[in-house]
Amino acid sequence: DLPGLPARFGRTVTDLRISLTDKCNLRCTYCMPAEGLDWLAKEQVLTDAEIIRLVRIGVNLLGVRELRLTGGEPLVRAGLAGIIAGVRANHPDLPVSLATNGLGLDKKAAALKEAGLTRINVSLDSLQAQTFARLTRRPFLDRVLAGLDAAGRAGLGPDKINAVLMRGINDLEAPRLLEWALERGYELRFIEQMPLDADHGWTRENMVTAAEIRALLESAGFRLSPDPRGRDGAPAERWQVHPPGQAEAAGTVGIIASVTEPFCADCRRTRITAEGRVRSCLFSHEETDLRALLRGGAGDEEVAGRWREAMWAKPKAHGMDHTGLGDADYVQPDRTMSAIGG
Ligand code: GTP
Ligand code: 5AD
Ligand code: SF4
Repeated sequence: DLPGLPARFGRTVTDLRISLTDKCNLRCTYCMPAEGLDWLAKEQVLTDAEIIRLVRIGVNLLGVRELRLTGGEPLVRAGLAGIIAGVRANHPDLPVSLATNGLGLDKKAAALKEAGLTRINVSLDSLQAQTFARLTRRPFLDRVLAGLDAAGRAGLGPDKINAVLMRGINDLEAPRLLEWALERGYELRFIEQMPLDADHGWTRENMVTAAEIRALLESAGFRLSPDPRGRDGAPAERWQVHPPGQAEAAGTVGIIASVTEPFCADCRRTRITAEGRVRSCLFSHEETDLRALLRGGAGDEEVAGRWREAMWAKPKAHGMDHTGLGDADYVQPDRTMSAIGG
């Protein structure tokens, strides 16, 4: 077994996240501007074959052990099932998962499962139509719920539901979201909002912190006890949830405290953007173009070498760790979350 990509400060990178498109059919306020972005032209975006090749290089030469397909919204990419099948043909045992907003899953879940997709995570911030529409700027809650049902029928979980909490918008809905997830057997994770939005609207005061999230759940009567499985380098801290009046745990909830409890020191991620650039971190200011190498006839070893160099330079931390002292060391990258791929 290959050891993975070495990165500075003792880290080893084994998780590959590839963005399949910069486009999305929602406009979540913490991610995209209302008017969308200047979408990449088709020829700028990696082809299906280029993606499948990069995965092969990652797995066979660099020790990648897990693949996550992201966007924008990866379901809007027409060739998605073919990409999954192509990856699967090369790597029968590689876990291949999808990060999606759920729109279109109602039609596609069965085919994706058939193509070899292992699991999905679905982002859903509210179960109330008005709040959903306010957050995503689109009235599509029912379609997301239909997508979740179809995923279940297709045997695709979902594995996890991700909810970003926004103060004064959906924060007070946290207990209701948890109740719903527990009923349906989904692992819910609450996410601290990160400053990766197009509108630069993030403020530390407005961010709903992990500590607040725990307090919100506890004041609704949920008791949280640390999950004995521990964290193991994963972004989410997991808690067993005991609903009001119940001694037994009814499931788990995760809290991803990227800002107040960063996991940069254990981060195992490498990212490829839709146009084929390595990003060593969500918050990088530098990118390494692999597309030009791929299209210029470079061999696998050369591509792997460039990728390895890019990952070695992975930043130590995002620079927001000075809780309470302002964010002097933090410079927001030019890319929004949607153009990086969650
Ligand atoms: P699994 O637990 O394997 O399903 O993956 P995951 O935890 O990476 O899940 P997912 O892709 O659903 O990401 C969940 C959230 O974690 C994202 O929505 C981001 O808000 C946050 N996140 C993802 N990647 C990073 C990262 O590299 N750094 C930080 N700080 N946060 C991240
Ligand atoms: N902060 C935290 N999470 C974010 N996501 C998008 N933008 C942000 C942000 N600024 C999440 C989405 C989805 C995943 C792909 O990234 O909610 O769960
Ligand atoms: Fe689209 Fe995801 Fe960004 Fe929402 S968070 S606009 S669903 S890419």
